[in-house]
Amino acid sequence: MDRIRIVGGNELHGVIPISGAKNAALPLMIASLLTDDTLTLENVPHLADVEQLIRILGNHGADISVNGRRERQGESYARTVHFTSRNIVSTTAPYELVSKMRASFWVIGPLLAREGKARVSLPGGCAIGTRPVDLFIEGLAALGANIEIDGGYVNATAPAGGLIGARYVFPKVSVGATHVLMMAATLANGTTVLGNAAREPEVVDLAKCLNAMGAKISGQGTSTVTIEGVRSLSGARHRVLPDRIETGTYAMAVAMAGGDVILEDTETSLLDTALEAIRRAGAEISETNSGIRIVRNGAGIKPVDIVTDPFPGFPTDLQAQFMGLMTRSSGVSHITETIFENRFMHVQELARLGAKISLSGQTAKVEGVSRLKGAPVMATDLRASVSLVIAGLAAEGETMVSRVYHLDRGFERLEEKLTRCGAHVERVSD
Ligand code: UD1
Repeated sequence: MDRIRIVGGNELHGVIPISGAKNAALPLMIASLLTDDTLTLENVPHLADVEQLIRILGNHGADISVNGRRERQGESYARTVHFTSRNIVSTTAPYELVSKMRASFWVIGPLLAREGKARVSLPGGCAIGTRPVDLFIEGLAALGANIEIDGGYVNATAPAGGLIGARYVFPKVSVGATHVLMMAATLANGTTVLGNAAREPEVVDLAKCLNAMGAKISGQGTSTVTIEGVRSLSGARHRVLPDRIETGTYAMAVAMAGGDVILEDTETSLLDTALEAIRRAGAEISETNSGIRIVRNGAGIKPVDIVTDPFPGFPTDLQAQFMGLMTRSSGVSHITETIFENRFMHVQELARLGAKISLSGQTAKVEGVSRLKGAPVMATDLRASVSLVIAGLAAEGETMVSRVYHLDRGFERLEEKLTRCGAHVERVSD
């Protein structure tokens, strides 16, 4: 099994190309099931989660081709992928496939809307607390679906004439349930109004793509999204938006290690709250023609308190990385997680590097230390794993991160991107 070896102490200088967003690519790929025409997605990141979803979509009958070789765009290798689901050959998403990645549950929306039925295994995914699917079920039921849970599967059936537009207010903000309800409602009879919808940029990106396919969606990016149902959708060509979590992760890596780096092909507007926190921690951040410049020269890292929240708040997917950064701050910071319970598994691993962190409910108190020391550590989930890399960049000596398959789910060519900027990071295959 691969491990990542980091020798800390080097500053980062250079350019890091930011990939297309995993969390946008996944729902966009799933949206291809809504049409018998071809959906072409550009800037698709090459990640384990994307490959897994390709297998899942293939199981439903999608014909998928990756544009020969990867396209070269500056330093990045964004891929163009074509998805054609002429016929849906199976409306069942089996446990063996869905259990590997939670987002694959989302096929329930398009399958139900297009075929009138879906049988989808309850999901697996990251071990960051219970992640129920009640909002999906309640929302789809509001559109007229009949839903039963049986033997670990959700069996959903649409009324004879198809799903029916309705008004549904999410009792809690959910990115996935917003994606699914939005997709399902595109082919419903009549108009659907979703209240308390997620406002994440990936929701906006999906709505943009669905509209290019002929859907009639408005209000995306606000908490009320309106979807006028249409009879059918066509193909389209769409470019996946930049990965704001990858952007924030590398910005924090530079803030941690020190240096001067341009994050290419990304935009500050995707992560204003997180960038503000990094700025307060002592880094200079500016927008340039090609992306975002982040600099920390000499100045120490200041303590900053954060609370995770749905967009536009501080993203939960950057919480672990920010904690990594705060381990070296000059004071005490408090990090509060409000989205997921049990998303503090990185705390114990950061402690192995010498961090001083104590937990009280949903808040971690981080007392900055002047020195971290490399150690063997274990990745526990996707975002937690990269917080260990960030800490390792500033630790003395060698940090060896095991279980890096978590990293490969969401970070494209991480070691290469960091190495090019002067970090000592390598993949070790046993
Ligand atoms: C997505 C992201 C993930 C990110 C999360 C929150 C993808 C592929 N994943 O996950 O990286 O951390 O948004 O920004 O885009 N919930 C319920 N019932 C439901 C659904 C969700 O209670 O039916 C709860 C969850 O347990 C969690 C909260 O709602 O506490 C938010 O989850 P949600 O926004 O749905 O996360 P995902 O869409 O799974």
